[in-house]
Amino acid sequence: MNPFYITTPIYYVNARPHLGHAYSTVVADVLNRFHRMCGQETYFLTGTDEHGDKVVRAAKEEGLSPLVYADQISGLFKTLWPELDIEYDYFIRTTDLVHIKVVKEVLQKIYDAGDIYFSEYEGAYCFGCERFYAERELADGRCPDHKTIPEVIRESNYFFRMSRYQDWLIEHIETHPDFIRPERYRNEVLAFLREPLADLCISRPKTRLQWGITLPFDNQFVTYVWFDALLNYISALGYPDGKPFKKFWPTVQHLIAKDILKPHGIYWPIMLKAAGIPLYLHLNVHGYWNVDEAKMSKSLGNVVDPLELKKAYGSDAFRYFLMREMVFGLDSNFNEEAFIQRFNSDLANDLGNLFSRSLTMVHKYFKGIVPQGEAGAESELDFGLRANADKAVQDYQKAVKDLAFHKAVMAIWEFINHINKYIDVTAPWELAKRKSQHKELQTVLYNVLEGLRVIAGLIYPIMPRAARVMQEHLCITWAAPFQTLDDLNVWGKTRPGTKLPKTVTLFPRINRDKPELGAGETAEPAEAFRTVKAEIPVKVFQQVDLRVATVLHAEPVPRSQKLLKLKVDAGEEITIVAGIAESYQPEDLIGKQVVIVANLNPTKLMGIMSQGMALTASDKAMCRLVTVDGPCEPGTPLA
Ligand code: ME8
Repeated sequence: MNPFYITTPIYYVNARPHLGHAYSTVVADVLNRFHRMCGQETYFLTGTDEHGDKVVRAAKEEGLSPLVYADQISGLFKTLWPELDIEYDYFIRTTDLVHIKVVKEVLQKIYDAGDIYFSEYEGAYCFGCERFYAERELADGRCPDHKTIPEVIRESNYFFRMSRYQDWLIEHIETHPDFIRPERYRNEVLAFLREPLADLCISRPKTRLQWGITLPFDNQFVTYVWFDALLNYISALGYPDGKPFKKFWPTVQHLIAKDILKPHGIYWPIMLKAAGIPLYLHLNVHGYWNVDEAKMSKSLGNVVDPLELKKAYGSDAFRYFLMREMVFGLDSNFNEEAFIQRFNSDLANDLGNLFSRSLTMVHKYFKGIVPQGEAGAESELDFGLRANADKAVQDYQKAVKDLAFHKAVMAIWEFINHINKYIDVTAPWELAKRKSQHKELQTVLYNVLEGLRVIAGLIYPIMPRAARVMQEHLCITWAAPFQTLDDLNVWGKTRPGTKLPKTVTLFPRINRDKPELGAGETAEPAEAFRTVKAEIPVKVFQQVDLRVATVLHAEPVPRSQKLLKLKVDAGEEITIVAGIAESYQPEDLIGKQVVIVANLNPTKLMGIMSQGMALTASDKAMCRLVTVDGPCEPGTPLA
């Protein structure tokens, strides 16, 4: 079986770790654990990127030397990962001597081959980005990130002859459809390669920057960001002769967000080619986390600290939310209220209750001893449960391989819901009343325990703690610390006759004195993160899909005083749970035209999936739906 090698970006040490860094590193950990479950030998690399202007400036602000400063921030990353149950194999720092040695070796090799040359360069330089910008990359003459006007700088530097490899790279990407994935990013790189590829400036004179790796062929220069950073992926394995390099490099997959697509999708394969090193297998690119619909940034004060979330809700719940909520490749929104909703409905309710009610029944009816499943006493329901377990394992496996983590989670939850229904329909409490149905009772509870064993296995990569607790309580001692996928493909591994410990609460419900969130209500920011009401760029507002919708059907939501369930025609049929029950009777709404937001992440409210939000003008005293001035075609967008 092939080994598996996964890398995260190495993070800059000029900022503390935040939600975005945590996401990439959790995804890498989930993949790593999954491939271990598949029986593969795995290697997981992360680390920190420590050279460059930005670090020098940040260190100066703290009154520290760059290295002491880098030690501190690198240490924050290094100690955060175990808190989030991230089990990396190696943590690389670009200030490590072995890394510096490899960077020099590769630079020399490419220089000797004639792909690095010396030349004068004049260009617009952004100090924030530490890079030159071509005219066409600027927005109104300003850096698109920092909004500052770059300074024109003229200097002699070393250049990497990337232009020579442009046609080769296009052909490689075209003949390897999953080299860069998902496809949207592959297309983005190909689109970029349609323009002539400029050579890459790879040095800085020491008169301007000393905090870097000295070029092996000119000690007046240091190498600049990417030649240093990207080579971490091979220096960490002991390139060129190290055993790990030989074993793991041929299977390498990188994981990054869209911000560093160009260096990884263009510079890196060309660097590898020029150095005579085989290319990576896959570049896996994910989108960006925004917070309350705004870009996360220090100046907005909305940076989410993963450690605070872990302290408040536990690392399993944090990892679960990240995997469930982001569609890999697309941007996603973080909102603490949505986090709590998911926690209570998916973890405390669906999974947690299933687990505790099942173990409680085993204790009540069998004194905690795993009953024997009786082959003769099996019904169609039992076979259905097994078939559903098989389906869950297959769907889950496919989804993780496709990096569709949200679908993998959905496959597990479909099975959890199936077991819950199986219990409701077979009603063990009824079977227990009749001696004649003792065998059926045994079979049902044995099957439930088997189902839970499969669930414990499937959640392991995402929620290793809960998986371990479940395994301990199901006495799955033969598979510590985790079950393999082969174990999950076989039904009947739970051992009858085993005495199980008393049940535990896997996920205690979170009560925030806020029973439900409906349209018109806003979440209170919790301590875990702070949000400042911020101005947003027009571009961000334009991403909101506002439409006219006609109400087709309205009904109260059981057990809720505030919520109504609406079915609306918004060009397509959409279900919306709206907090308007205190102001509107369901029957008065039929045929009414309202304004909705149609592209919110679906959220479960009181067990109902709400796919959008109806806009209201509301304060404490009243709530009025926003409507249009005259009849409109359903689905008409608001401009
Ligand atoms: O770019 N959403 O380091 P960096 C999701 N040192 N992921 C995010 C994110 C967000 N809002 N913000 C950051 C560098 N990330 C270089 C990399 S690699 C050879 C050198 C994650 O500290 C995501 O993985 O700016 C992104 O690619 C990375 O952090 C950038 O980290």
